Amino acid sequence: MSVEKIGVIGGGLMGHGIAYLLAAAGHEVAVFDPAAEIRATLPGRLQAVADLFGDDPALPERIFVHEQLGAAFAAASFVFEAAPEKLALKQKIFADLEKLVAPDAILASNSSAIPTTQIGLHLKHRERVVGTHFWNPPHLVPLVEVIENEKTSDDVVRATMELLRDAGKTPVHVRRDVPGFVGNRLQHALKREAIALVAAGVCDAETIDIVVKEGPGARMAVLGPMEQSDLVGLDLTLNIADVLYADLDRTPGPHPFLRQKVSDGRLGMKTGEGFRHWTTETAAAVRERLSCFLLQQAKARKKPLT
Ligand SMILES: NC(=O)c1ccc[n+]([C@@H]2O[C@H](COP(=O)([O-])OP(=O)(O)OC[C@H]3O[C@@H](n4cnc5c(N)ncnc54)[C@H](O)[C@@H]3O)[C@@H](O)[C@H]2O)c1
Repeated sequence: MSVEKIGVIGGGLMGHGIAYLLAAAGHEVAVFDPAAEIRATLPGRLQAVADLFGDDPALPERIFVHEQLGAAFAAASFVFEAAPEKLALKQKIFADLEKLVAPDAILASNSSAIPTTQIGLHLKHRERVVGTHFWNPPHLVPLVEVIENEKTSDDVVRATMELLRDAGKTPVHVRRDVPGFVGNRLQHALKREAIALVAAGVCDAETIDIVVKEGPGARMAVLGPMEQSDLVGLDLTLNIADVLYADLDRTPGPHPFLRQKVSDGRLGMKTGEGFRHWTTETAAAVRERLSCFLLQQAKARKKPLT
């Protein structure tokens, strides 16, 4: 694996994890963030990741933080943008980067929803723009969707996948820049049905969570839906689809039940109530449970197979 010079744009929630995992893979990483508070807290947040993994405490010192998008980024072979989800802002960042980096440097956006076709629209070298959709927290969740747009070259997709694979991630190639890519489409298809079931009074929100965690979710980390269909047989899958699909929720747009919750200010853990009720303690317990679980999984993946 060659050591690359990598720029990360934005040192917030996603940017600090992306910077960490790339530095942990041995690359030279520079982070740019215009917010003084974010720059000031970055070393501590990186240290917390090192502590979480039990990594060399000196590792975060290899990540340099910058107030300007300057010389430290000019030599980068890859830049990962993790700035706020605003098209005009991302377009400006990419235009600034184009003036700075070599024509073959790869420019990747971590945007959740904005097509990279739009982000790179005014650039001269559009073939080097690619989507890299990391999942939060990026240093713990293995998947990265590598999204090709109309202009992305095959070489850029290949090099990006290789860099991420070498850094211990699980990159997948998404061949079209469709809204939600693959992961969020699947996740929201499930949420759509879950919300409709609760709204119809079929079960309560807690029951949905138990059903998913103790049922299909218990095996999903090792058995994807396509494998599962092949396992039970496509004939059975078709028989169930024949009976079920006509009954699944087809509300056009977000369900009124969700809209009502939001207009009532019931936004979830941050307001104490969403689909379920939360106290500071129960919300903290969920975050702790998630973090411990993801960490355990990440450590298990790092162990060599015997
Ligand atoms: N949070 C998630 O779960 C998640 C998951 C996948 C993808 N994303 C995407 O990742 C991107 C970043 O999200 P986040 O959650 O890390 O946001 P965040 O608000 O935590 O971080 C964004 C950072 O960008 C900085 N910033 C502001 N203006 C900037 C500029 N002009 N140049 C460089 N940096 C600038 C901010 O100071 C901040 O530190 C967004 O596009 C988001 O949609 C987020």
